[in-house]
Amino acid sequence: MTNQFDEYVAAVDRTLRDFLSRPCDPDRVQRAMRYAAFAGGKRVRPVLTLEFSRLCGGDWRLALPFAAGIEMVQTYSLIHDDLPCMDDADLRRGKPACHKAFDEATALLAGDALLTMAFEAVAEAKLLPERTVKAVSVFARAIGVQGMIGGQELDLAHEGVSGLPPEEIRKTNEKKTAALLTASCLLGVIAAGGSDAQYNAARSYGYSLGLAFQLVDDILDATATAEALGKPVGSDRENGKSTYVTALGIEKAREMAAHYTEQALEALSAFPDSGALSAYTRSLLSRNK
Ligand code: IPE
Ligand code: IPE
Ligand code: MG
Ligand code: MG
Ligand code: MG
Repeated sequence: MTNQFDEYVAAVDRTLRDFLSRPCDPDRVQRAMRYAAFAGGKRVRPVLTLEFSRLCGGDWRLALPFAAGIEMVQTYSLIHDDLPCMDDADLRRGKPACHKAFDEATALLAGDALLTMAFEAVAEAKLLPERTVKAVSVFARAIGVQGMIGGQELDLAHEGVSGLPPEEIRKTNEKKTAALLTASCLLGVIAAGGSDAQYNAARSYGYSLGLAFQLVDDILDATATAEALGKPVGSDRENGKSTYVTALGIEKAREMAAHYTEQALEALSAFPDSGALSAYTRSLLSRNK
């Protein structure tokens, strides 16, 4: 008997496989997309999309194209994040990074194509058209220059800068990480036609979880092994990144991650049936990859 979240992951994987196996000639870029998408991601974001849809009374299966689109963008962001001109990382999800398994140009194109395909997937949802249009708008804004890309821009701009005010680190993390996590939650609410109150609660949850999530990622970069993490460790220090860990130390970062996790849990009080999501949220704080 699998639990609900395992069922979500299996369904997201099936949906991704469907999109990524459509006939294609030539297919080298498509093979690179499939390689990255099935390298072993945790699927946190699509799980949130499906669970918020369920929490708002929707049929989570109808939200699968949104969830798959979210994971396509997550995968694209990691392919590009690992490129030599960005974080220059050779290992991702326990395997050679996409540009190592293929080549840089193919990795670049695979990222572009995943981003494009994400909107193809969202557009294929069998939902009321106004819900799909709203989802496109929320999704696009979250991952563009005002959101995730803006965060990646700040992340790179802050490389090698010492003594950055913590406020600037928060702004970076809000954009590069919390924006997509928040959109993941909101697309679930939108798919289900949730209320304004549910929408606002999902936004608060995604924001706080996003800040906690990046804090834990930065802590793991400083404390885990590459084998356990499936990506290089010590890379933030090596790249001169400005994170809460490099700026304030591990202990303070741990405190902050716990604080933002509590804040995320508080936002879930708007959803009576959120016990499983609460447990999942806590498990992300103590994750080891
Ligand atoms: C990594 O995200 C990038 C961050 C925003 C910290 P995940 O830790 O969710 O990576 P995958 O999708 O499981 O590989
Ligand atoms: C990545 O942050 C955020 C993205 C938007 C991809 P990191 O650069 O810390 O992510 P990892 O540690 O490489 O997964
Ligand atoms: Mg990065
Ligand atoms: Mg990185
Ligand atoms: Mg990291």
